Amino acid sequence: MKRDLNEIKVLVTRNIPVLGVEMLRNERLSVTAWPHERPMTDQELITESKKHNVILCVSADNIGTDFLNACPHLEMISQFAVGYDNIDVPLATKLGIPIGYAPGAMNEATADIAFGLMIAVARKFFYMHKGILKGEWTYFKPNANLGFELNNKTLGIFGLGRIGLAMVRRCKGAYNMNIIYCNRESNSEAEKLYSAKQVSFDELLTQSDVISVHSVMSKETKEVFNKDAFTKMKRTSIFINTARGGIHNEQDLIDALKKGTIWGAGLDVTNPEPMKPDNLLLEMENVCIRPHIGSATVEARNEMSRMAAENIISYFKNNSVPNIVNPEVLNK
Ligand code: 8YV
Repeated sequence: MKRDLNEIKVLVTRNIPVLGVEMLRNERLSVTAWPHERPMTDQELITESKKHNVILCVSADNIGTDFLNACPHLEMISQFAVGYDNIDVPLATKLGIPIGYAPGAMNEATADIAFGLMIAVARKFFYMHKGILKGEWTYFKPNANLGFELNNKTLGIFGLGRIGLAMVRRCKGAYNMNIIYCNRESNSEAEKLYSAKQVSFDELLTQSDVISVHSVMSKETKEVFNKDAFTKMKRTSIFINTARGGIHNEQDLIDALKKGTIWGAGLDVTNPEPMKPDNLLLEMENVCIRPHIGSATVEARNEMSRMAAENIISYFKNNSVPNIVNPEVLNK
């Protein structure tokens, strides 16, 4: 949609790296950034969005059915994230609103967290650190504090896209892990470079020593890691989720860890978010939790900011969006 760029008013819903904001302003778009150190309520998001033609939003913003029905005037949604399960994509598409997103920007940052959590769980990093603070470092006990080694173990990837592949590269390089994966499509790059083998969901559960979740959140993946799934996993296995908390059932995970159905878990995403400070997982020995900050590196966040701005500028200048969720709207 070719437009005079100084007619475009962009609402940026959170404080994002300045790079993207400057790119928009350099192109003469008018940018309003939400100034408060708290998220907008759903109602505030609607009220503010009504004053703008474009929103640059984050995955915690509720861009669901109610929002879109209240804001059908929007000319574009630019998501500062790779995941877009917070957006009612079919409705936005029906309304002709293109949705830009930022795939690739956080591959390395998020894979680092999955890889780090795997080691941190296998060797109980967080629990031991907390123990020292509580004065529990007393004397050397040869049979205590034992973890697992990861060399030559089997890594099962659930959802093998860009971030999963970056995790595979780390695990193959560092530990020569045997790679299996469960994905809708086969991944020829992973098969060629890392001898990865595509398996069924059941095979992934029963054969993996570590399962790392990198899939999208959808109707199909919602809480697939539940009691049934944990029961099929090895008692010595580790569950890692850096994708979306809704892909696991948190109470089932707590039960599985308590009963020793699985050995440990590392989560960068929880269900719900934010996690409450009295959550039992935070007290468990073989568990490490982070507050959904997989993409929190200077490099990744700058790139997300750049991509979010580029998607907007390119749409209004050239009617093309370099990274778009619903390309069909461009041909209308
Ligand atoms: C972000 C993310 O931290 O990109 C995603 O899908 O989950 C993270 O990178 C956050 O959701 C930003 O909107």
